[in-house]
Amino acid sequence: MKITVAQTEQQFDLAAAWRIVNMIAERPQAVIGLSTGRTTGNIHRHVCDLHRAINFDVSKTTFFGLDEVTGVDREYSGACYKMLRTEIIDDLGVDSEHFLMLPTRSADFAAECSIFTDELERRGGIDLLILGLGENGHLGFNQPGTPLNSTCGLASMDERLEARIRRETGSAADAHLGGVTLGLRDIMHAKRIVLVAKGANKTDIVRRMLCGSISSDVPASILQLHPDCEFLLDAAAAQTIDIEQLRKP
Ligand code: GLP
Repeated sequence: MKITVAQTEQQFDLAAAWRIVNMIAERPQAVIGLSTGRTTGNIHRHVCDLHRAINFDVSKTTFFGLDEVTGVDREYSGACYKMLRTEIIDDLGVDSEHFLMLPTRSADFAAECSIFTDELERRGGIDLLILGLGENGHLGFNQPGTPLNSTCGLASMDERLEARIRRETGSAADAHLGGVTLGLRDIMHAKRIVLVAKGANKTDIVRRMLCGSISSDVPASILQLHPDCEFLLDAAAAQTIDIEQLRKP
């Protein structure tokens, strides 16, 4: 397994940012998937800083979001569309042709999901996918219990996130909130993956993801089977794993 442990937050954020920048340099027309959350926010800021410093060309690169909140306006600050635009897309000057997101609202999510995944394929498939890790082992909105061969579609959201979004958006009690996400099978089709996890709140789930059995109880455990997945961790997230043992082929 490929495991990288960064000693400081700055090293962690920069290492992840360089994975994105290097992919763009290697393949300007790359298709790159991004995640939202506390872990990836700083990484996105570093990509923007690098762009200002070395001014690489992103005009041919496609960026897309791994997942999206449903039942809210996409301009709501907690929608992935809005977060990615604010954190990275607008700053890099990416146009709407090169920024693909699943919708927050739709009369036919199944059709939208196939259009979305077909479009990623049409552009050559996912070259790089940056994945955050949920404290319960979720990837995107694929919560524990999701079949390991799931495909792009609607998903439920955990109670804490739902409560926060209801509070922030003032959604009516009967308004349905959820998520729409690439499935685990779609994720496994990415050519290269970088899983990013930092902080002591991720220590236990990092150990279960890397050392536990591959099971839908911990969706991220499926990444053990991916041929080109790097696990980029900080020292706190990596503190209980035996890295040398895991690095052995
Ligand atoms: C949310 C997102 C995931 C993300 C996860 C991790 O659930 N839907 O895509 O990976 O949060 O978030 P954080 O980095 O804040 O722990």
